[in-house]
Amino acid sequence: MSTIKNLQEAFAGESQANRRYLAYAEQADAEGLPGVARLLRGVAAAETIHALTHLKAMNGVKDTAANLAEALSGEEHEFAEMYPPMVAEAEAEGQKRAARSMGNAMQVEKIHFGLFGKAAEAVKAGHDLEAPEVRICPVCGHTVIGDAPDACPVCGCGGARYELVA
Ligand SMILES: [Fe+2]
Ligand SMILES: [Fe+2]
Repeated sequence: MSTIKNLQEAFAGESQANRRYLAYAEQADAEGLPGVARLLRGVAAAETIHALTHLKAMNGVKDTAANLAEALSGEEHEFAEMYPPMVAEAEAEGQKRAARSMGNAMQVEKIHFGLFGKAAEAVKAGHDLEAPEVRICPVCGHTVIGDAPDACPVCGCGGARYELVA
């Protein structure tokens, strides 16, 4: 049983290393160090490979219907149980940046829950989701199928800044 626990721990660690190195790469670019930034991005990509092989080794990837069910419960947990007390605590402590970051995420997880719900229904009915284009707000992660809104409904940033997901 300890191998499963070890894989879970290693998956969490590698996943975090991936995002941390990408953030470090952005910083290295800002400091005029594109070579270091490139190395950080390369190692970040390797950490993703480690994370994915760990996840697969613990049978964490199933068919899409099961994966969407798992994703739905994760998003629901985040917006319904995890974030509300965290946001309240950050506000109570006057941690504005933390409150905004977690408050934005909380709102966006609700939207993710709705989008995954539609995807789950489509797959259940035996077809793919109609999502020719997906865009995200680069500030808060608000996610939309199709065109960007004039302004982000979560953080208010201009719709022209939305990024098309490849
Ligand atoms: Fe989400
Ligand atoms: Fe936004």
